[in-house]
Amino acid sequence: MADIIQAENLTKVYHGKVKAVDHISFSVSEGEIFGFLGPNGAGKTTTIKMLNTLASITEGRATVAGHDVAKDPGGVRKSIGVVPQELTADDELSGTENMLLMARLHQVRGSSLKSKVTDLLGLVDLQEAAGRKVKTYSGGMRRRLQLVMGLLHEPRVLFLDEPTLGLDVQTRSKMWDYIKGLNKQRGLTVFMTTHYLDEADSLCKRIAIVDHGTIKVSGSPAELKAAHGGDIVTLTLSEDKEDLTGFFSGIEGVSGVSREANVYRIKLPKTEKALPAIVTGVLQKNLEIAEIAFSKPTLDQVFLDVVGRSMRDEESSTSDSTWENIRMERAR
Ligand SMILES: Nc1ncnc2c1ncn2[C@@H]1O[C@H](COP(=O)(O)OP(=O)(O)O)[C@@H](O)[C@H]1O
Ligand SMILES: [Mg+2]
Repeated sequence: MADIIQAENLTKVYHGKVKAVDHISFSVSEGEIFGFLGPNGAGKTTTIKMLNTLASITEGRATVAGHDVAKDPGGVRKSIGVVPQELTADDELSGTENMLLMARLHQVRGSSLKSKVTDLLGLVDLQEAAGRKVKTYSGGMRRRLQLVMGLLHEPRVLFLDEPTLGLDVQTRSKMWDYIKGLNKQRGLTVFMTTHYLDEADSLCKRIAIVDHGTIKVSGSPAELKAAHGGDIVTLTLSEDKEDLTGFFSGIEGVSGVSREANVYRIKLPKTEKALPAIVTGVLQKNLEIAEIAFSKPTLDQVFLDVVGRSMRDEESSTSDSTWENIRMERAR
């Protein structure tokens, strides 16, 4: 499929000294959901702003929907919807009024405009609050309004900068269901950032992980997990008789072992391959297995491996046990 976003050596230096984005190159295919992930300050918002024509490009070039961002900003703006990290709806206006104001900015007119606004607000469950001033909205309602404000002119590409930050799980999943629907039905291309790596994992066809203004890795979630994660088998022996770390490490297909008394965490690129040898080996030593558990690799693991630190813990929905696994892995 054709590339709908192309960035070549895209670079942003603020005030002649802060290099926020450092020669980034990537492309996004039409109809793809592309995740742009990274810790705070990595340069995600700045990249989005350059692609959205809202920040000037210091060096390099980019095209969006066939329009050169620097040479034809108007063409870009017509093709894109933007849901910015900072909420931009006017507090003193109602939901409907904000939508109509947005329509004016995008020159969306016609007899169907009113019903379109009503439909869109209904889609994100804001029909009842549509006439109320936005200052009376909850955080989730504001986020939902912001989303449909970005969709009013039926863009080909939607940029979402942390669209679900701080939302509860239900609202998050509802928003994504809606975005997924648009992606499927209308072939809408989505360029998104999120702090929730599980969201990126389930939604994105491809992901780039950025840090310090550069892309560290990119690929499909499955590719990244295979390269940086691997399965983890947690094996608990009934007794803590001898140290089996060396034994497990020697088994073909095992890429790492950590031990805490009688509990071993064994990292394997593919569980199926090495598991029989692990189990047989333990039984041959006349040891008893009390418990055996598997965990699939997560994007959190990939993130930690690539960036060297985790996505802010408090904002991650990763279970404590997974974090424990990751910490064990890192401690080796
Ligand atoms: N308007 C600005 N002026 C100066 N520095 C900025 C500005 N906006 C962002 N930065 C800096 O650029 C870097 C990248 O920021 P940003 O793109 O917001 O990262 P992210 O969205 O990944 O958290 C950070 O070091 C940030 O402090
Ligand atoms: Mg940001």
